[in-house]
Amino acid sequence: MPRAPRIRPSALSEWPVPFDPAWELDWSRPDYGRRLLREHLDQSHDGASRRLALVDQHVRRLRKLLPSPPATLLDAGSGPGLYATRLAVAGFDVTGIDVNPAAIRHARAEAPKDTRGRLRFHRAELAALEPPPTPYDAAILVYYVLEAFPAREQPRVLRRIAASLGPGGIAIVEMRLRPDQLPGRICWWDIVDSSVLSDRRHLLLGDGTYDRARNTYVLREIAVFDDGTAAGQQTSAWLCPFDRIPSLFRRGGLEVTEVFDGWSSDRGNQLSESVIVVSRRLP
Ligand SMILES: C[S@@+](CC[C@H](N)C(=O)[O-])C[C@H]1O[C@@H](n2cnc3c(N)ncnc32)[C@H](O)[C@@H]1O
Repeated sequence: MPRAPRIRPSALSEWPVPFDPAWELDWSRPDYGRRLLREHLDQSHDGASRRLALVDQHVRRLRKLLPSPPATLLDAGSGPGLYATRLAVAGFDVTGIDVNPAAIRHARAEAPKDTRGRLRFHRAELAALEPPPTPYDAAILVYYVLEAFPAREQPRVLRRIAASLGPGGIAIVEMRLRPDQLPGRICWWDIVDSSVLSDRRHLLLGDGTYDRARNTYVLREIAVFDDGTAAGQQTSAWLCPFDRIPSLFRRGGLEVTEVFDGWSSDRGNQLSESVIVVSRRLP
């Protein structure tokens, strides 16, 4: 099992570098994936996935935005399949993809028997997504999957989504416009029995850095162990400004048709914390 990257405190930068490959969380690492799955399924918080009551609410909303069942859907970044499974139960034909092997195993194992013919999960990297033999009617990217790619890569990822859709196919993308903290850096620490970095009890140091000028947000965590060694990881986000969403999607081969204020049916605006962007594949 690979060990978390070791760090020397004296070599740490005060401000993290967004999307620094030496620090960025590898979602596909089996040990991280296993611990992340635990977070996805934890019903005490909405960390990696939302709690089930909220997922049920969102699925009801998605059904109003999606073509009618038995439309074919791609759930890109499906995690443990909470949305994909519910949509398959509702009659859609759903393919979930994710890089986390533990999440894919869990999603497959939990697939209800009566959805088996129309629900499948594949381990795949979104940035390398190949067009399927039969294009999908719609794709969803739920819970800020897109922001984990740097600004220059987001149009490429959207292009891969667009290329997997049939003519007139729609993509529904949930995007965060800002993190839940003010610009600047917030630091914290805790003693924990486990975190994504380790299953050994450790001191966990964290900081969240929101650079509003560059539209980036970095959540950094450092685990310090009893033997004095330390390991760290970060997750970076590029948060597309509201006004630039249509051009981002156009560069991704998609035309924005509606933008909603989060999961509500109200129109999204500059002050929305997050938006649901509904788009259509450009001819
Ligand atoms: C915040 S979680 C959301 C999971 C799921 N959509 C949900 O709401 O329950 C983001 C998901 O994206 C996956 N992911 C991150 N980077 C990815 C990539 N490059 N390709 C495929 N999946 C990725 C992660 O493994 C994780 O399951």
